[in-house]
Amino acid sequence: MSEHTKKHLVTAALPYANGPLHIGHIAGAYLPADIYVRYLKSKGEDVAFICGSDEHGAAITLRAKKEGTTPQAIVDKYHQINEKAFADFGIQFDKYSRTSKPIHHETARDFFKVLNDKGVFEKQTSEQFYDEENNQFLADRYIIGECPNCHHDGAYGDQCEKCGSTLSPQDLINPKSTISGNSPILKETSHWFLPMQKDEKWLKEWIEAGTLDGKQQHNPKVWRNQVIGQCKSWIDGGLQPRAMTRDLDWGVKVPVEGADGKVLYVWLDAPIGYISATKEWASENGKDWEDYWKGEDTELIHFIGKDNIVFHAIIFPIILKAHGDFVLPTNVPANEFLNLEGDKLSTSRNWAVWLHEYLEDFPNRQDELRYVLTSIAPESKDSEFTWKDYQARVNNELVAILGNFVNRVAVLTHKYYDGVIPEVEYTEEEGAVFNKVLGLASKSGELIQQFKFREAQSAAMGVARIGNKYLADVEPWKLIKTDPEKVKIIMALAIEIVSELKDVIKPFLPTTANKLGALLGDGKTLNKPELLFQKIEDKDIEIQILKLESNKKMNAPKPEAKPQLPEASFEDFTKMDIRVGTILEAEKVPKANKLLKLLVDTGLDKRTVVSGIAEHYTAEEIIGKKVSVLLNLASRKIRGVESQGMILMAENSVGELSFVSPENEVESGSEIR
Ligand code: MF3
Ligand code: ZN
Repeated sequence: MSEHTKKHLVTAALPYANGPLHIGHIAGAYLPADIYVRYLKSKGEDVAFICGSDEHGAAITLRAKKEGTTPQAIVDKYHQINEKAFADFGIQFDKYSRTSKPIHHETARDFFKVLNDKGVFEKQTSEQFYDEENNQFLADRYIIGECPNCHHDGAYGDQCEKCGSTLSPQDLINPKSTISGNSPILKETSHWFLPMQKDEKWLKEWIEAGTLDGKQQHNPKVWRNQVIGQCKSWIDGGLQPRAMTRDLDWGVKVPVEGADGKVLYVWLDAPIGYISATKEWASENGKDWEDYWKGEDTELIHFIGKDNIVFHAIIFPIILKAHGDFVLPTNVPANEFLNLEGDKLSTSRNWAVWLHEYLEDFPNRQDELRYVLTSIAPESKDSEFTWKDYQARVNNELVAILGNFVNRVAVLTHKYYDGVIPEVEYTEEEGAVFNKVLGLASKSGELIQQFKFREAQSAAMGVARIGNKYLADVEPWKLIKTDPEKVKIIMALAIEIVSELKDVIKPFLPTTANKLGALLGDGKTLNKPELLFQKIEDKDIEIQILKLESNKKMNAPKPEAKPQLPEASFEDFTKMDIRVGTILEAEKVPKANKLLKLLVDTGLDKRTVVSGIAEHYTAEEIIGKKVSVLLNLASRKIRGVESQGMILMAENSVGELSFVSPENEVESGSEIR
């Protein structure tokens, strides 16, 4: 290939190797990137699709600490899980690397050295939070406290996950070290700062007008509004110097003297990971990595989620430009967030559909999820995944339209012609239908190039819709007796639509496209059709909903346990006469919402006990129940009813009451000790 052909370098945000991937990550960055790359490759473009694990930063060390293991063990585990999940889901990176590799450390160090030698950084001493008990400076993520904006109590030193605001640790009200739980002190340390305020002017022009050094570098009309908007508000608010080094023992060591115990800031190190991974890919494939990073004609595209915008559209471009020779991104298509069943996705609360679990629960159904996630892609605003919607889209669109059309064509062709594709000449009528198909196909491609994947997929599905409608209109099954020549033409056209459909859906639904390829075979005879899609049954999604709900319950915040009461002697205990009783009768106490009047068989007698359980049990459901009764509690009048004793209840964290009942059959009056 000549050096003059245009190159595309497409990256997807390096996921932190501190946990598995969920559908929010996939819809946010990886699936649109994969669609884009598959499309470019289908057009014969020269593309490198780069990703890998982000293995540094406090997110990793924190996780290791929590699990009582080493950062290396954490990244090894999740690198492997995530790489496999991507592959199984059909995300086809040209290189999936990791930032712990020596080549990355080397590349990142060299990059830092070049910048440092050029005098890009300013070394500054500042006060940072320090944990005296553990003798270490605290990375932003290691500090939590009250958010100054929304007053949420668990905000991190860099961000409040409740209200989404970006913070500095010093902004937090009542900051605490997450390592020791103590209040940290402020201690002096020096760091290499990037004085970003110096870059405001060119950045503003570049982002808003797309011009760089007086030349048009990109078309800002193709950039997403939220990307331009976020950048503008950062720049208009005034960029601040930002430390490019951290006091941490996990990461890329700062390659200058006097920087012991310091590593590169993870947001400097990770984007350089795109470069190191490209180097690896190039040397494995006989390419020159510089063609993809420094060529006049290179398009660099970063696919990311919206929380990564500032790093890819402001900080990394500053760094690339300061280094010199590198191209800047042509676009940074960032998505908004995907929500799940009415709630924000959350790794820590386990409120997520995990990609690797989906692939286990729905084997060979990666295209179904790809389809749904693209249909609801949060391209311009937050959107929501629900299992019901997933089921509806699969059943009503993939099964009923795409699957149905292809199946009809295959079945009829086998029935009428033993699968042999008729050779015919079209009339004007068929030509018109086919032109519509071609129109949709090219529209889909154009939309992909504008990063409008949702609409692009819908245009692609339009081809199946046309095919379906065409068959329904011309009804070959009725004509086969009266006008078999016409049916040949109809079926030839229908098969050609299937062939077009295969190409147009390929970036979105690669596995399905392969099945269509197998069906179409050599172009002369149709092979036996494979089932494209199966209906999603109610029970399939009910299981998923139950799984989510049980996660939610398990992760609900637990209130602090009440401290133990002062010691009681055995004597004290034996004073209480607790026995098993059977509830014989129950009725509501008039004008008292909480009270039931019970008649209880205690083994000694049948007596009345008033119990505050009416909000938890109905009178009917408790008759015959065996319960624990404190017999010798001094009797007292409750709402005019004499109560002799007390029913013992267990109360959970949200105030729900349950009886304490014997596990096996025991008669009334059995003592409880
Ligand atoms: N690991 C980061 C995240 O998950 C993304 C890093 S993107 C890179 O939010 F450019 F820095 F690599
Ligand atoms: Zn907040």
